[in-house]
Amino acid sequence: MIIAPSILAADLSDLAKALRQCEEGGAELVHVDVMDGHFVPNLTFGPPVVEALARRTSLPLDVHLMVANPDRIVEATVQSAALISVHWEAASHLDRLVRRIRDAGVQAGVALNPATPVEVLQDLLPELDYVVLMSVNPGFSGQELLPYVLDKARRLRRRIGDAGLDVRIEMDGGIGPANVADVGAAGVDIAVVGSGIFAATEPVRTMENLIRRSC
Ligand code: DX5
Ligand code: ZN
Repeated sequence: MIIAPSILAADLSDLAKALRQCEEGGAELVHVDVMDGHFVPNLTFGPPVVEALARRTSLPLDVHLMVANPDRIVEATVQSAALISVHWEAASHLDRLVRRIRDAGVQAGVALNPATPVEVLQDLLPELDYVVLMSVNPGFSGQELLPYVLDKARRLRRRIGDAGLDVRIEMDGGIGPANVADVGAAGVDIAVVGSGIFAATEPVRTMENLIRRSC
C-alpha cells in the first residue's frame, strides 16, 4: 500500500516545506485537496496553487477535486497533476469528464462520499484508474475514520477482482498509525494521510514509519 501525505494538514504558510518533508519521508505521491466552499464547507487551493506545487516537486500530485461542477476546473489542473479524482456526487456527466482526464494523459479517479455505495460505479468501473473511498465526510482534515467504509473497500476489492480489472482503491480521511494496518487489510492500495503525518511532532519520521509498515 502506498502512503499519500495530504498537505492540507501541513503548515499552509510553508507548502514548499511540506513538499520537502514528503520527499525526505519517501512519499511516492502527494495528495492535494482542492475545495471550493460549495461542494464542501471549506475553501483551500485552486489551480494556480496546484501549478506552483507541481513546479516545486518532482513527486506526482494526486489532486482531489472537492468542487461543484468539476468540469469547469479539470482543464486547469491536468497540466500539473498525475492523478485527478472528481466526486460522483458533484459531476453530472462523469463518463465524459473521466474521458477528458484520461485523454490528457492523467489517471482518472472517482471519489465517493462515505454514504455513497460503491455499487453506483458498477458501469463506470472499467473506465477508471482508481476509486477514492472517503472515510470521513469531506471538507476538513483531522476527523475520525468511519469504520463502515472498510466494508466498502472489501466489497469494492471483490468487485474489481471478480471483473478482472486493474483499478486501484484509495482511502481518504482519518488514517494514521493506529488504523493503517486495518486499511491495508481491507484491500486499499493508496492511503491518504493528513494529520496522521503533519500533526505529529516528527512528520518525516512518522511518514517513514507508515511507509515501512505499509509495504
Ligand atoms: C478531507 C480531505 C482529506 C484530508 C485528510 O476532506 O479530502 O484528504 O486532508 O486529512 P486527515 O488524514 O487528517 O483526515
Ligand atoms: Zn482528499
